[in-house]
Amino acid sequence: MIIGSNLLFFENLPSTNIQTSDILRKNNLQEGTIIYTNYQSAGKGYSGNSWESEKDKNLLISIVLFPSFMKPEDQFYISMTISLGICDFLLRFIPGCSIKWPNDIYVNNDKIAGILIENSVSGNKIDFTIAGIGLNINQEKFLSNAPNPVSLCLLSGISYDLPACMNKLVTDLDKRYKQLITGNSSEIKKEYISKLYRLNEWSKFKDIRGNFTGRILTVGDYGRIKIEKQNREINEYSFKEIEFIH
Ligand code: BTN
Repeated sequence: MIIGSNLLFFENLPSTNIQTSDILRKNNLQEGTIIYTNYQSAGKGYSGNSWESEKDKNLLISIVLFPSFMKPEDQFYISMTISLGICDFLLRFIPGCSIKWPNDIYVNNDKIAGILIENSVSGNKIDFTIAGIGLNINQEKFLSNAPNPVSLCLLSGISYDLPACMNKLVTDLDKRYKQLITGNSSEIKKEYISKLYRLNEWSKFKDIRGNFTGRILTVGDYGRIKIEKQNREINEYSFKEIEFIH
């Protein structure tokens, strides 16, 4: 076991990602160490957003990885790997889920999990990766203005045992990370693409030129999304260059 080989629990923290980087600054941690908590007072989302999670209701974890086998330009494979691990976990309980590019985990049109990957790159090496995951399990009411949160409990009406969920999630993430390490990255990319939210469906997007109808064709090198417009023009976008319109 790599992911989950060492578990460090804190009853509450500002943020598991911040705690992990603080620890890494002073100490060595073995690869696969998980730092987790029951409550974050300053949970971080991407783009400076915050991450809402009611105390004792959800999984809040950060994983330490040392993907030295990987070039920095391939770092999107980590995102894909973690996304698939979360999907594997969810599929134990519900019939389907999808990945809203780049790495929001969706059930139907609602977000059940968010991933915040922070890579430390020096030269042409990834020094370490902190993969933060917020996965909504038992929360029934969301108070922030996050547009469309959902939890496993809201979907099924069942309340789940958090430690048991944690074990299963760790197992599923570890399997996927081993798949990546053993060089099976093309399979990871293929599966990631097949699970993309709105893949091949004509729907509304917004880019720098305004709103348009388009369809996602694939995700290319470096994690850039390829979208076809109705006039057949195909563009590639990096994160923040394109918005999904609901
Ligand atoms: C997103 O905005 O979708 C990413 C959310 C990531 C939230 C998780 S919760 C555990 C870890 N610690 C943090 O502060 N953020 C990530």
